[in-house]
Amino acid sequence: MLGKTVKGVLWWACLSALVFCDSPGAGVASAGEAIFSPPSEQSIPGGSLGDLVRKGEEIFTNTKKYAGHYVGNDLTCESCHLNRGRKAYAAPLWGAYGIYPRYRLKNHKVNSLAERMQGCFRFSMNGTAPAVDSPTVKALVAYSYWMSRGAPVGVKLPGAGMLHLTPPSRSPDPFSGKKVYEARCALCHGLHGQGRMSRGETAFPPVWGGKSFNKGAGFYNVGKLAGFIKMNMPLSKGDSLSDQDAWDVAAYVDSQPRPEKPAVK
Ligand code: HEC
Ligand code: HEC
Repeated sequence: MLGKTVKGVLWWACLSALVFCDSPGAGVASAGEAIFSPPSEQSIPGGSLGDLVRKGEEIFTNTKKYAGHYVGNDLTCESCHLNRGRKAYAAPLWGAYGIYPRYRLKNHKVNSLAERMQGCFRFSMNGTAPAVDSPTVKALVAYSYWMSRGAPVGVKLPGAGMLHLTPPSRSPDPFSGKKVYEARCALCHGLHGQGRMSRGETAFPPVWGGKSFNKGAGFYNVGKLAGFIKMNMPLSKGDSLSDQDAWDVAAYVDSQPRPEKPAVK
């Protein structure tokens, strides 16, 4: 009863302030649109489909361990697709499944979901792409398929992809961004963007340098990175930076050294 009331008050606060609420479960988008709730972990089915889905989830959350051959940096898929690919405005897998195949200007063709995943391996993971019919991609596709069960197909759902942040009133400024970074980000990601490893696993992912995403990645686009940061960073304090700070810190992060974009094959 009390829980319900508290939730109601939160909903009201979200709606009246016209902000995006950063709650882990069902959320509310700016226009009051409900955010899709993916099926719970407990509902992964038994049998061979369940095995494939669970394998996909393992690859997604511990990519180096389960698909290390294809990974060229210290990130996992979950480093950017937060909460195991479930979080709204962090390109959730439930928002992706139903909108592929899809035309992308980037490679000027209609991409299957598997081909889209290959892109993240090459650029965001600075690695090599597993074949579309490889066990790795089959498991990841199954994981995305399962997570989107019950979601409408062919429409962009609220919370899918990243937030399209309104253009800033002044151009993004890396010098102001450096101050934001040092105050709000360096504690976890390190003063030199290097992140932190713990027992061979990534505790805090690097945001620039040789172990980060390369210049072909979506996050090398300042606007895309700003939208992600606005909604998701500092971790668990999404929507606490001003829009301008999100733009500035994104410009700073993207102005730092990182691997070059690999030649297009
Ligand atoms: C450095 C951050 C980063 C990492 C790591 C990363 N991705 Fe992505 N991914 C992105 C961005 C940015 C997009 C584009 C989202 C958009 O356009 O709104 C994206 C898009 C996608 C999409 C399409 C989503 C959509 O809504 O169109 C899928 C599927 C995907 N990634 C899967 C993966 C998989 C699988 C891995 C691990 C092998 C991975 N990603 C690793 C940043 C990342
Ligand atoms: C409390 C610790 C913490 C703080 C503070 C924090 N982050 Fe993160 N950040 C994380 C973690 C942890 C992840 C990866 C999430 C996962 O793997 O589940 C992440 C992921 C990211 C990513 C995507 C992965 C990558 O390495 O490229 C970016 C970009 C990012 N953070 C930028 C920032 C920026 C900019 C700030 C400051 C505004 C910030 N973070 C503040 C913990 C933090």
